[in-house]
Amino acid sequence: MKTIDIIHGPNLNLLGSREPEMYGNDALAPINEYIAQRTAEYGVELHFFQSNHEGEIIERIHDSRQTVDGIIINPAAYTHYSIAIRDAVTAVETPVVEVHLSDITQREPFRQKSVIADVCIDQISGFGKDSYVFGVEALVAHVALRHIKTVCESGGNQDEVLRKTVDILQTAFPKYDWTGIYLVDGDELVLHNYHGAPSPHVRIPIGQGICGAAAAEKDSIIVPDVNADPRYLACSIETKSEIVVPIYAGNEIIGEIDIDSHRLDAFKKHDCSFLEKVAASIGQMWK
Ligand code: DQA
Repeated sequence: MKTIDIIHGPNLNLLGSREPEMYGNDALAPINEYIAQRTAEYGVELHFFQSNHEGEIIERIHDSRQTVDGIIINPAAYTHYSIAIRDAVTAVETPVVEVHLSDITQREPFRQKSVIADVCIDQISGFGKDSYVFGVEALVAHVALRHIKTVCESGGNQDEVLRKTVDILQTAFPKYDWTGIYLVDGDELVLHNYHGAPSPHVRIPIGQGICGAAAAEKDSIIVPDVNADPRYLACSIETKSEIVVPIYAGNEIIGEIDIDSHRLDAFKKHDCSFLEKVAASIGQMWK
């Protein structure tokens, strides 16, 4: 992912003065600067565009075929009724992420529905200007997932595929400071391979620590602050947050993806859904 269009829809040119209690005090230009600064580590070139006109937004989406690798769009009010913008997203191959400053799922019934979200690769809503930052991450994840799927379907041996998957994850996301895959062995999780500082936890009994809890509860776990979670098995004083995602083969857990970050609260829903897709690709190899 080298270039991304950030498309802001109608009335977003008035941000800063428009309903600040809902959309915050920042005007659009500082929001764009913030997005560029927060996503600089991904090395993508961002192109910003705002329009109050449906046709201009549609043409911008069409142009993306020649100009960019991905789109982040806040369609604003068009979200809720523009079949024409939906059709434009469907008409191009460019991956699109829909974002909103406010949490549209908690607002008036007419805003809760998006006619565009289901043709996008993700919808991110309710994080203020960070929704756009997470949108960039969702596009980076989309490319990494394509790469991982190719590796998983390449027919290589499992050991090699697991190692390459960890490499791809670590390279794609600077916020992943320790990335590892554990495999289930009896009633323990055994570290298969990792990137980052050596971990003392090479065998973890199921039920112990956050990794063990995810296997026991058969669910992904996000820990925004490991120091506030008594389950955390300390490996590095630098670790601030963690995500653990089980890998299933059918209904059975055969392993886990475990990622630590030196940043607080580094993992959100979009990270979890991405890693669950990665886990599903790996799980396919066990079938
Ligand atoms: C919005 C939510 C829409 O419902 C509204 O029409 C907007 C902004 C948001 O970013 O929260 O203009 O897309």
